[in-house]
Amino acid sequence: MHRDYTCLVTDWPGAYNAYMKKLSQALPLLGGITPEQFLSEYWHKKPLLIRQAIPGFAPLLDKDALFGLASQEDAESRLISFFKQHWEMKNGPFQQLPVKEKKDWTLLVQGVNLHHKEADALLRQFRFIPDARLDDLMISYAADGGGVGPHFDSYDVFLLQAHGQRRWKISAQKDLSLVEGMPLKVLRNFKPEQEFVLEPGDMLYLPPHYAHDGVAIGECMTYSIGFRSPSYQELGESFLHFMSDSIALPGRYADPDLKPAAHPAEISAAMLSDVSAQLAKIKFTDDDITIFLGEYLSEPKRNVIFNGPEKPLTPKRFSQAAGKNGVSLSLQTQMLYRGKHVFINGESFAVGKEDKIALLKLANDRYLDGDAVASASVDVQEALCTWYEDGWLQLNSK
Ligand code: SIN
Ligand code: CO
Repeated sequence: MHRDYTCLVTDWPGAYNAYMKKLSQALPLLGGITPEQFLSEYWHKKPLLIRQAIPGFAPLLDKDALFGLASQEDAESRLISFFKQHWEMKNGPFQQLPVKEKKDWTLLVQGVNLHHKEADALLRQFRFIPDARLDDLMISYAADGGGVGPHFDSYDVFLLQAHGQRRWKISAQKDLSLVEGMPLKVLRNFKPEQEFVLEPGDMLYLPPHYAHDGVAIGECMTYSIGFRSPSYQELGESFLHFMSDSIALPGRYADPDLKPAAHPAEISAAMLSDVSAQLAKIKFTDDDITIFLGEYLSEPKRNVIFNGPEKPLTPKRFSQAAGKNGVSLSLQTQMLYRGKHVFINGESFAVGKEDKIALLKLANDRYLDGDAVASASVDVQEALCTWYEDGWLQLNSK
């Protein structure tokens, strides 16, 4: 296994077949339809209200734990209020929040899955959508009347009611013009077409650009399962940045046939055509795009901090322990692959057929059991040890 700059088919047929079978099953989470049906009929197309998508669902963390998270530097949070009919937005961390008795405010905490195992497990119930598209689990707490105002999102979203009730008004309207000068996106002419009150366990799916407004009826908590769809502009800019590290253009501009300049300020046609011929040598391949995309999509978010073990085991002790109990990816780790390329937290590796088996299993299952580690190559075991030291994965407990 070597750092990127070489596809072969993996074989974990048992797990793969079980997974494929699951995909063709009707899921209560999707209101009794299969992921395939959901994707072809609703995804990006129309809303879906699912009563009791998760029957008996209760919040995964209580209000105090959520507020605690909002006080941390490594969690992204926002406070949105509509006091005296005036929208205001503040960014966290927050040491203090309005009292519950005060109406019309809401706290939004992004990326809760990066901090809570149960939140991560909930997000991964939506893994019939690939990891490259799943973004995060955001939790909102709202006091009575709280919400973020009528708006639209550029991404698909599943809105799962976790606690209390929320009234959702939604509209397929084409007029998505916004009120100017607001600290957040508020629709100028929201014209609700449908209205539902969601109870704990109910879930509403909305496609991108679908106008919506959710208002808390009493205090409530809503979980948003969000998706990621980078703009082409963002991808293009990042790709050019990525390519700047890998282009090689030997030589330097020279003009042995230079003639005296009649117009000294003018850039000559000869200079322009020489530079243009040199720049035309910059080429990129499908492999470059693959490596770029994998690194880009697996790059940790800005505020992610990996905590390695305080007293890491020696590589030898790590291999013994991992060979016995196995390893699991950290909540913050994003591991993807394409062909011979494996990506983890913004780094890419080209791997051979044998190493791929263990690494693809780790990426798909997010853990390896002891036998899988013990039968992996020395290269893979060394990589696992480095990732353990960096806090990218942990040893499974016995
Ligand atoms: C919320 O949970 O209050 C906001 C979710 C959304 O409308 O996207
Ligand atoms: Co929204």
